[in-house]
Amino acid sequence: MSTRMTRSGSEGEPESRAGQVMHKDGAMPPIDLGQTLLGPSFRYDLRSPDISKLDRFIVENPIRDWSVVRWKDVGRPFRVENYASGKRVWEEQNGDRMPIQTSWEMFNRSFHEWFVKDVPYEQRRMMGQFARAILGFRGTEIGRLWRELQQVALWNTAHRLTDTIWDPRGKRALFRGLDVSKPRILFLGAAEGYEAMQLSAMYPGGEAVLVDYDGFCQTHRFGEFPEDYPFLGTHPQTGSPRAWYKGDMNLTYLVSDIRQLSFGHEFDIVISVGLLEHFPDEYKPECLEWHRKFLKPNGYAILTTPRHSWKTRLFYHVMAEAMNYTYRELMSIQQMGLYIHENGFNILRHGYIKTHNGVVARVR
Ligand SMILES: C[S@@+](CC[C@H](N)C(=O)[O-])C[C@H]1O[C@@H](n2cnc3c(N)ncnc32)[C@H](O)[C@@H]1O
Repeated sequence: MSTRMTRSGSEGEPESRAGQVMHKDGAMPPIDLGQTLLGPSFRYDLRSPDISKLDRFIVENPIRDWSVVRWKDVGRPFRVENYASGKRVWEEQNGDRMPIQTSWEMFNRSFHEWFVKDVPYEQRRMMGQFARAILGFRGTEIGRLWRELQQVALWNTAHRLTDTIWDPRGKRALFRGLDVSKPRILFLGAAEGYEAMQLSAMYPGGEAVLVDYDGFCQTHRFGEFPEDYPFLGTHPQTGSPRAWYKGDMNLTYLVSDIRQLSFGHEFDIVISVGLLEHFPDEYKPECLEWHRKFLKPNGYAILTTPRHSWKTRLFYHVMAEAMNYTYRELMSIQQMGLYIHENGFNILRHGYIKTHNGVVARVR
């Protein structure tokens, strides 16, 4: 991955100069605490080192009492049903429905291609092609390139400029304040493992086990996750803010079906990010059971799902070819919380961050 970067402002936030962030080998990092830096594929972000400033990045606890929330009042989630043509082609060629694991394999390969793009370079390259297609009056190509340009522009805004997928400040706002020390963390459907790394940075000294049944996630999505991406967390000795890098953390990646895991109740935190919404209602209890069965007594289940909003609908509409291989729902925090509550969890914290709902819960 390219490492070219351009320094950008910190959007009016006070910059902490409390000390420069050091890599574990002592090399100078790309940014200091309090700063952000725009790379060609993603944003480096060490803003808001002070945990108390995180309130701005989460809309927290809109529901006071989950026991009075009813489905007739909150409605049912929205289903994203415009599937990628790759799924239709596969099903025509194979004369069968695409197996769920295959749909995840196609999704992960496609999604990864977006994460590693040098976006400004892609935009320039495609604009050149588009201009040549217009000058050559090549109608079909003009239409295709126009759609691709829209996708790149949306990806640039959603992921690279505004960081709505990784959303480090929102995630830190959701994950803060857990009563754990050197926790064992289990990440179900881990993909590139981002949130396990953010949790490990905030609660250092433990271990995170990342599980995904698509081997490509271990080798490529996690394997190629940038070594120089800084996660803002805590210094284990002093408690002061410091940056953590993938190579600093105690991470184990298991390529396994979650249903085959032999762990007992041994994790302090079980987390999933974008998993529950891929299960139609009759399977949601099974998905939630996965979060319960590996937790220590009093352990935390943390789940996030994409919010139902015009922004997420636009994203899955424009990015359908890249993203829509699997069954997917978009839901409100009320709907998400109700699934979790009625499946035997007490909700400790809930809210929404940039584009995801988030819930922190304990088994009831
Ligand atoms: C929507 S993705 C998670 C979103 C993730 N944050 C991302 O960036 O793609 C869900 C992941 O769960 C994995 N997964 C789904 N069902 C699984 C199962 N039964 N066992 C293991 N992994 C599973 C898929 O392979 C996929 O990588």
